[in-house]
Amino acid sequence: MKLKSKHLLGLEGMSRKEINLILDTAETFKEILSRPIRVVPTLRGVTVVNLFYEPSTRTRISFELAEKRLSAEVVNFSAAISSSRKGETLKDTVRNIEAMKTDMVVVRHQASGVPYFLTQCLDSSIINAGDGAHEHPTQGLLDLFTIREKYKNVKGLKVVIVGDIKYSRVARSDMWGLSIMGADVSLCGPSTLLPVEIDKMGVKVYSDLNKALVGADVVIVLRIQLERQKGGLLPSLREYTNKFGITKDRLKRLNENFTIMHPGPINRGVEITPEVADGPHSVILDQVTNGVAIRMAVLYLLSGGEGKVE
Ligand code: CP
Repeated sequence: MKLKSKHLLGLEGMSRKEINLILDTAETFKEILSRPIRVVPTLRGVTVVNLFYEPSTRTRISFELAEKRLSAEVVNFSAAISSSRKGETLKDTVRNIEAMKTDMVVVRHQASGVPYFLTQCLDSSIINAGDGAHEHPTQGLLDLFTIREKYKNVKGLKVVIVGDIKYSRVARSDMWGLSIMGADVSLCGPSTLLPVEIDKMGVKVYSDLNKALVGADVVIVLRIQLERQKGGLLPSLREYTNKFGITKDRLKRLNENFTIMHPGPINRGVEITPEVADGPHSVILDQVTNGVAIRMAVLYLLSGGEGKVE
């Protein structure tokens, strides 16, 4: 089986079969990553551009490692030291890069819709590495992979996403991905940080974290974007922590074999306490490890590769 599109813009609208294809392919790559020699020739001759207009640690390094482990040629673009600082438009920038014979673009941008825009002006395969508050599909996929790895099946699990839902692309990709795979998804956060279109999303919404957590299997904690406080959307970080912080005490409400996730970067002591983030139920670093296998699978499949679905 192959993916229908040569682009990955988001998880919204993807089929369960396509998501399973990516997750199953990532399992194969994870096994390869456990070998002493972690490089395969799969993307030899393919040139990938990592186009990052926003800061990133995990996603940028993870894509670069995935590309190198597939033997692709890698070009890293950083907006801060590029001619975009001299006023060059995004369209001119990407068309000039593609004129040097590149094949795939991994893009992170502060504006929602930029990955789609690139599909309209380039022939390259486009991968969304996070666009505004829209989607972060490879984060959604690596979260699904990490949950599936622990529980074998995502279907029927109760997953609570806590925090700044309104401005979170991770929340959107997680919500779409988890819903497609049959999880029971709930959202919880301050009313000022919940999206207005929330009623149409087909998920449960809680304003009381203590109620949201009852019987949950997985809690995905989102980073509180500290700039929201300056925008008047949060009264104070202390109040946020009191009402929505994930503390050891609150974990008593969860199912026995529960899991704590966070996409990073973490504000320790704000949305999650260090003892929970580093505790025995946290899979935060497993998420990061799995990100490389997921991105290898996405790069391989978008370049026309075939995989088997169980
Ligand atoms: N999870 C995530 O997107 O982290 P980075 O911003 O460091 O890439």
